[in-house]
Amino acid sequence: ELPYRGLFDFSEANTFDTYPDPNFKKLFNTLVYKSSLLKNTKNHRNLITTNLQSTPQETPNSKNKLKVIHFDDYEIDTWYKSPYPSQYTSNPIMFICPHCLSYYDSSFTLNRHLLKCSFNFQPAGREIYRDEDEKISVFEIDGRKNVIFCQNLCLLAKLFLNSKTLYYDVEPFMFYVLYDYSNNSSFKFVGYFSKEKLNSTGYNLSCIMTLPIYQRRGFGNFLIDFSYLLSKREFKLGTPEKPLSDLGLLSYRSYWKLSVIREVYKLLFNNEEQLIFKKTDTDIKDPHLKVFSVSIDDLSNLTGMLHDDVIVALEQLNSLITYERNSQNKFALIFSPSLVKTLYTTWKRKSSVKLNGDYLIWKPIILGPSGGINTNSTMVIADHNNASSDTASYEGQLMKNVSVIVNFLKDDLEDDRDIEDQFLEKIIQQNSENNELTSQEKNEFTFSKARITYPGMKF
Ligand code: ACO
Ligand code: ZN
Repeated sequence: ELPYRGLFDFSEANTFDTYPDPNFKKLFNTLVYKSSLLKNTKNHRNLITTNLQSTPQETPNSKNKLKVIHFDDYEIDTWYKSPYPSQYTSNPIMFICPHCLSYYDSSFTLNRHLLKCSFNFQPAGREIYRDEDEKISVFEIDGRKNVIFCQNLCLLAKLFLNSKTLYYDVEPFMFYVLYDYSNNSSFKFVGYFSKEKLNSTGYNLSCIMTLPIYQRRGFGNFLIDFSYLLSKREFKLGTPEKPLSDLGLLSYRSYWKLSVIREVYKLLFNNEEQLIFKKTDTDIKDPHLKVFSVSIDDLSNLTGMLHDDVIVALEQLNSLITYERNSQNKFALIFSPSLVKTLYTTWKRKSSVKLNGDYLIWKPIILGPSGGINTNSTMVIADHNNASSDTASYEGQLMKNVSVIVNFLKDDLEDDRDIEDQFLEKIIQQNSENNELTSQEKNEFTFSKARITYPGMKF
């Protein structure tokens, strides 16, 4: 009987020719020997592979020797240990694909991989942001759909993060990955942040990391800004998951200050950089003081930041003041227009990449009862055969689904403007409506008696 049910004749179906010939085995052993000589010479760092001649006591598993990662054209020093499989950390160097973040123990295997890496021109997930001028893109990647990529990402992030504990359980998270495609339109990883799909604590970011080769160039700031933009599009306030690392805290404090400055600038100045005060009062004792009504809550809504974080920003700007009224401590916000203008223009002039909300094409995901972890979705409508026997529950389910969609579209149906624009208009309106201070306020608000508050201040 002919093989393959006679599809091929005998000569075509014959596989005897592909059996290894004894000469091949000899050639293979010679090559292994030659490569083992090469890899011991210092000049061939890239050829370091698992040490074939090591004694059992020195097997790779015994120690994590990883010191640097080879990434794109760089060798990057690692900061912390990461739980990569032991055969990859038994050498001082590991090779990482800049597109899909998979890891290799030699440049040879990496180069073989690069010939066929499918993420080179099409990374995982959905592209939700693209800036054609800066040649950067952000992809939204579901931890449940691209498990391997997200695990590789977490392993890489751990090399630069001390506290992170998540590596393999990536399903409950969404990952927002920043790519640079300036080089021949091939997407290279720059940094990322992760966000819990379902969280009741108001966290809008779990972990953030920029590769050291891209740090201090504003990408961290861009990613943080992005996380707040998503919160605003969800009509929510957000804050990063605590505790923050040292670098995380530095970056956030700098971001919070900048974010408040940007909003105050919009409120104080018009396009020609002229001061706009809807509400001025010449009767106030200090002639330089102009009054404009804006609250911490307003700033929170404009920036998407939690009130506490707005306060941290205001403290850095020396903007929180306290004064006494009827022997009670009252609080107010104070801004120096020239300081606001200087800080804003300094930021504007920086060459770092800036987020443009218009480039974002995104809607929050609708999660099923499992919070996006399992494949069951609320959108599965009961099957029609059961419906006749149990119409009430079928209709109930249907209405539930309809109400999910209505809620989802609500903000578009009622007012299709972004939350920032809605609140900006509200604040401006509230200032033009009520532009008179009561005579009591005029008498009591004496600028010279106000004091700047600071954390831990005692009254
Ligand atoms: N020293 C002093 N200030 C710093 C430093 C630093 N090394 N790094 C950042 N900053 C401050 C500066 O004020 C800086 O603004 P400036 O450059 O205009 O002065 C600001 O933070 C923002 O800097 P970026 O260039 O926008 O941020 P970067 O791309 O460097 O990324 C990040 C910051 C993500 C924290 C990066 O340092 C990193 O990946 N670190 C390792 C991982 C980590 O610690 N992540 C945070 C964990 S906390 C959490 O995930 C919730
Ligand atoms: Zn790859």
